[in-house]
Order: sequence, then C-alpha cells, then structure tokens
Amino acid sequence: MHEQILNLKNEAVALISQAETNQEIEHIRQDLLGRKGKINQLLKDIAKLKPEEKKEIGRLINDTKVAIKHALKSTITTSKTTPSWLDVTQPGTKPSIGHLHPLSLAIEEITRIFEGIGFTRVRYPEIDWDYYVFESLNMPPDHPARDEWETFFIDTPKNKKMGEIVLTTHTSNGQVREMERIGNLPAGKAGPPIRMLNIAKCYRRQQDITHTAMFHQFEGLVIDKNINIQHLKGTLDYFARKFYGQEAKSRIRPFMFKFTEPSFEVDFSCTHCKGKGCRSCKSGWHEVGGAGMVHPNVLRYGGIDPNTYTGFAFGWGVERVYTLKPGLQLNDIRPLYSNNLDFLEQF
Ligand code: DAH
Repeated sequence: MHEQILNLKNEAVALISQAETNQEIEHIRQDLLGRKGKINQLLKDIAKLKPEEKKEIGRLINDTKVAIKHALKSTITTSKTTPSWLDVTQPGTKPSIGHLHPLSLAIEEITRIFEGIGFTRVRYPEIDWDYYVFESLNMPPDHPARDEWETFFIDTPKNKKMGEIVLTTHTSNGQVREMERIGNLPAGKAGPPIRMLNIAKCYRRQQDITHTAMFHQFEGLVIDKNINIQHLKGTLDYFARKFYGQEAKSRIRPFMFKFTEPSFEVDFSCTHCKGKGCRSCKSGWHEVGGAGMVHPNVLRYGGIDPNTYTGFAFGWGVERVYTLKPGLQLNDIRPLYSNNLDFLEQF
C-alpha cells in the first residue's frame, strides 16, 4: 500500500502539471479529491489495516492529499497570471473596422452639399404609379418620349387615375409628390417655396459597363417666385466646386425633356485634364444628366399656379457623378455592386 500511495502521488502531480485547460484540471481534481475519488478510497482502506500500520499510512495519504492540493492550486494560479500561450510582447490583432459603402458615402456628401444651400432631403416611393413617373411630368400615356426610359412594369391591374405601377425609372417622380406634400401643409405654411433633394434607387432595363439595372439618382427641385435660369446655373456651379474642387465648372446645353422648358443637358468639366480634353473625356467635359425650368403643366399637376411661381429642376446619376471624382475615374461601375472587399476597402 505504501508504494501504491507514492505512485499515486507522483502520477497525480505529473498529470496536473500537464493539464492544459481548467476543465481538465477540474476533472483531475474530482478524480482524486472528489467524494468517490482515489484519496477517499484509500482512506476507507485504512480500516482494513493493522493498528501499527494505520498511523504511518494515514500520514502518507495526508501528505499525498496536501501535495495534490498544492499542485492543483499552483496550476490554477499560474494559468491565471501567465498562461504558457500568452506572449504579452506580441502586437495585438486589430479587429477590422468597416465603413460605409462608397455609394452611401457619395449620397451623404451630396446631401450635405445641398443642405448647405437650404435643400431638404426627401424620399419618395421607388415603386410608384405611372402618374407620378410619367403622366404628371407632361408625358401622357403612349407619348413617344417615354421610350427614353426603359421601364420595368409591375403586373397589377391599372388604376383609373394613376395608371400602372412601375419601378421608378428616375427620381423625377418626386417632383409632383413634393408639390402635393407642400400644398397639403397646414394653412399659412402650405405652398412654395420648395427646395427639395430626392435621392433614391432607380431601375431601367439596361446592363453594361456604365449602366446597371438598379442605380441611384438625385433630383433637385426649387420653386418660388422669380426663379430663373441663373439660379439653376449658380446651383450647378456651386455643386461642381463643392463636389469636384474649386476649379470645377458646369455647362448646360439645350436638350428636350417634356417636363422642363427650356431643357438642358448638364456637363461638368473633366477633373482629370481640367477641361482641356483628355483620353477619358475627349471634349474636356462629362455629361452627368438633365435639368431645366419646370414646365407650367407640371406645376399645374402639382397644384401650383405657373403665373405666380417658376422653378428649376435637375436629375443626375449618383454613380455617374461619383465615378468622375478626381483620382477615381472608374470606367466600370459594376464593381461598386460586386461585394468584393478588396475593391470596396479602398474607399
Ligand atoms: N429624369 C431625367 C432622366 O432621368 C433627368 C432630368 C432631366 C431630371 C431634367 C430633371 C430635369 O429634373 O429637369 O433622364
């Protein structure tokens, strides 16, 4: 029995020193010191011994118990303070911190720029009635001008006044909606002025390197007394300077939209060659979208008297204006929607 106890003591101490987890240590503790553990078993066996042996064996068992307790305790305290796997001199692992998607950053920036001159950001449905997307914008059903917008239709019954439901092809659906909202404000507050910025998703049946079926537009609408083209041009130049840098300029060219008269296409000077003409722009300018003076019929649809009020509007693609930023010059917009972190983390 003497030898058996000494063996147990040596084995136990070795086992404890090799244990790697607290769970393992707890397991060993139970096995040795638990109610039905090996030490208790030995203590029970003492009863069978001769009286003269009892004393010595009793002391031996007790020594073993103390040694085991000691070994357990020192293992626990060492593992708490300096576990063998911890090297406090090693540099830490930085958790990767995400950031907003580049398009969300662009939308934030555009919003801040227009808020700076009194515009209010609004959001209108991205799935909307034909009435707001086309008809109230001076494009009656079957008008050929609608062909410009390669429209997705929702398969639902037609509404008598509102027509079909479509995925919005442009943010211009916000124009008459905003005029209605302003018109419905409490008496005394109802009616113009309007300074609206509508940013939303738009959808068209298109897909190539510079077009995706879903994209974003931002739409400005300003209506008040005595608003003229100079206000529009001033707003375009202000945006160009804020978004592309102090030297950037805007240019308007005559065009045709049914909802504005006169209508323009809007260009911004190329940030790469500063308007001189280079491989990416050719002419020194990049076209970004449309603008114009709100057509009197559109004002009437919105319940605003065109004899008292005038206004201007513009609508451009977020992806389009963003990819022309200095240093970006992205020729292909599809990676923006690729979920490829190697690409997105660069912004
Ligand atoms: N909605 C037009 C488009 O998607 C862009 C546009 C042109 C918006 C003229 C306007 C505007 O507000 O006045 O092509």
